[in-house]
Amino acid sequence: MDNENKEKRGQWGSKIGFILAAAGSAVGLGNLWKFPYITYKYEGGAFVMVYLLAILLIGLPLMIAELLVGKKMKKNPVGAFKGMEASPDSALPSKRSEKSMFLPWRIVGWMGVAAGFIILSYYSVVAGWTLEYTFKAVRGEFNIVYLNAKKEIDTISQNKNSKKFLELKKQYAPKLEGKEENEKMVNSLASKKMSKIFGSKFLANPWKQIGFHFIFMFLTSFVIIGGISGGIEKCTKILMPCLFVIMILLLGTSMMTGAFMETIRFLFTWKLSSLTSHSILEALGHAFFTLSLGMGAILTYGSYLNKKTDLVKSAIIITVLDTCIAFIACLILFPIIFHYNLQPESGGLGILFTTLPIIFNQMFMGHYVSILFFMLLSFAALTSTISLMEVVVSYIVDEWKITRKIATITSGLIIFVFGIPSALCNGANDFFTKITIFSNGGEKLNWLDSFDYLATNWLLPLGGFFIAICVGWYLTDEERLSEFILVDGNSIIYKSFKFLIRFVSPVLVGIIILNKIGVF
Ligand code: PHE
Repeated sequence: MDNENKEKRGQWGSKIGFILAAAGSAVGLGNLWKFPYITYKYEGGAFVMVYLLAILLIGLPLMIAELLVGKKMKKNPVGAFKGMEASPDSALPSKRSEKSMFLPWRIVGWMGVAAGFIILSYYSVVAGWTLEYTFKAVRGEFNIVYLNAKKEIDTISQNKNSKKFLELKKQYAPKLEGKEENEKMVNSLASKKMSKIFGSKFLANPWKQIGFHFIFMFLTSFVIIGGISGGIEKCTKILMPCLFVIMILLLGTSMMTGAFMETIRFLFTWKLSSLTSHSILEALGHAFFTLSLGMGAILTYGSYLNKKTDLVKSAIIITVLDTCIAFIACLILFPIIFHYNLQPESGGLGILFTTLPIIFNQMFMGHYVSILFFMLLSFAALTSTISLMEVVVSYIVDEWKITRKIATITSGLIIFVFGIPSALCNGANDFFTKITIFSNGGEKLNWLDSFDYLATNWLLPLGGFFIAICVGWYLTDEERLSEFILVDGNSIIYKSFKFLIRFVSPVLVGIIILNKIGVF
């Protein structure tokens, strides 16, 4: 690669800046919503162990592999894999040309850029919801809904023999009496009102849906235009520490609810019966999504590293941070779920936007808790959308030689437009609500879910599989080793990495893919 291009590409200003940006990519809605949700669904314990194994055996080696390719090739995913076809290491050209046969590695890069484009188009819509809810929290809207529900229940409760009261009691609190009965009825009614607001006022409002999607794409593009150290690094250096502080504060309030020990027991008690092939596959698949692997996001961030950065250490820190945050999210949400006896499995994503805001409201400093919680979600989402967009923009800048600013604005607009059906498919527009593109196990998926399914179930695992094959089998020992620091071919770290990336990761990912194809 020519020097001029190298200089223009930009670099991380500091090691910590890179770590925070990469951890920001990894930590997102996957950690704060999806992980707690699937952990609850598959009943903690055994599922958590499988997840941790998946992170260790697939996630960590692949993270090192992506950083290695990025650091070696100093290009976007397409450019990096295109370079692999000819000579991955210009320092060692002879070795390569002997062994080389044409392998279309660039397809892996294209798949990655396509996945970045697709994921960003709908992730930004959901991220927009978190932004809107931050504003709702600031305006105290959840409190108003709660107070209205309380007033309604109190009025109805004045005559405990009335048909209305008996109906509501049967529905919401059949076995409770006194204060508990009242509390449960108020909470349930308020949650129902929140669901209505979420469904018929928010999701069904095309302007809000498109508007917040636009704002999120705008914010993401704004950061991307600033460049690597001036935009991404600067922004994540502010947002990530804020995110950590918010998490600690929320953890504190959640611990005070009293169901903390129950949560710990839930998370670490083995219930082997809940371990099915389905839950195992979900754990493996989620390992990709949560660590932003399989599509070149980590590879692209790795391409802005300098020669001296230690891949293994960086990958371990990023993976540990991501995993810790996923667990802290459980420690924040589960005590609330257990204490207030909520049923998250019936709501899925809904619980974040319907029941939780009502519950936060009753906690210590509730108004602030809800503001902090939705801010946390928006911050986490923003640092992830930034990395998704960087994949697309770095591809355009490197390969088409277009300036960063123009590349960002045009790709931002195109992704925004491609995301509009995702914004409208949950009731805001009849046409888009009725469209189904894919189905998953017989269930018809709308636009947003279809593209989520395509990207997370197919593109990421396939990408991960080929990255593992490329680094594990196509690259030579010298080519791999030249990117490691203080590690030689005989060290235990290198040997374990080589074993995992050659045999364990591709076999496990291969099993996921074969299962999805329906081979078994
Ligand atoms: N890792 C992010 C999350 O957990 C999502 C993501 C996937 C971001 C792929 C970038 C690339 O939410």
